[in-house]
Amino acid sequence: MLRYRHGAVDEAARRLDASDARGRLLATDGVFSMDGDIAPVAALAQMAQRRSAWLLVDDAHGLGVLGEQGGGALELAGLSAQQVPLLVGTLGKAFGCSGAFVAGDRDLIDCVMQRARSYVYTTALPPALAAAAVTAVDLAATEGWRRRRVAELVARFRTGAQREGLPLGDSQTPIQPLLLGDPARALAASQQLWDAGFWVTAIRAPTVPRGTERLRVTLSAAHTDAQVDALVTALAQAIRATAVAA
Ligand SMILES: Cc1ncc(COP(=O)(O)O)c(C=O)c1O
Repeated sequence: MLRYRHGAVDEAARRLDASDARGRLLATDGVFSMDGDIAPVAALAQMAQRRSAWLLVDDAHGLGVLGEQGGGALELAGLSAQQVPLLVGTLGKAFGCSGAFVAGDRDLIDCVMQRARSYVYTTALPPALAAAAVTAVDLAATEGWRRRRVAELVARFRTGAQREGLPLGDSQTPIQPLLLGDPARALAASQQLWDAGFWVTAIRAPTVPRGTERLRVTLSAAHTDAQVDALVTALAQAIRATAVAA
């Protein structure tokens, strides 16, 4: 396994070129889980295809949220199943259930079913959850207002956070990190927010690189404008209070 930096298409190309493996699979998040930015999936797909490598996109955070029908980062970029042979998604985020899936062509899925140890030896989803997931996918595809609503809240949050001078990341998705750069400070701010009624987790190394410890806000279409405004105020207070303490 060779790693490349976050979204770095040229570096991924060099890594692929350096490998003499018979089969090569390039993997990326669709929406990056800790930064909320969208991977350059079109450029990655084109680059992988030119090298006869396969592309796998884990779009846990894009599915249901991005694209006209909630098809995620791939729908947004207009990419086909032929350009991205493997899509991994979870049911536990926008779809509000639990479990996950791999989508690809029939032969590939047969191969996963026969060879993927974690799949072969795990218990299948209970039927009730499978039914809930099917309904959730239908709702995500047909109820675009949920996507528009969460996009509105993202814009509202970012405008408020900018007004308060908060250390926003460069994300247009419902994952909105606030970079604090210190684990103790992130924990203290998270605790202060919890005490004020807001559940905002502190993300620390090794989940993110040392020195980029952060608060990670996740917005949902179910939040209200007033909740988002109150969150911005509480974040500003927590971030200021912990700056003094740090
Ligand atoms: C990119 C990505 N893929 C997969 C997962 C796993 O999701 P699940 O909760 O379905 O195990 C996560 C969890 O946060 C994630 O961020």
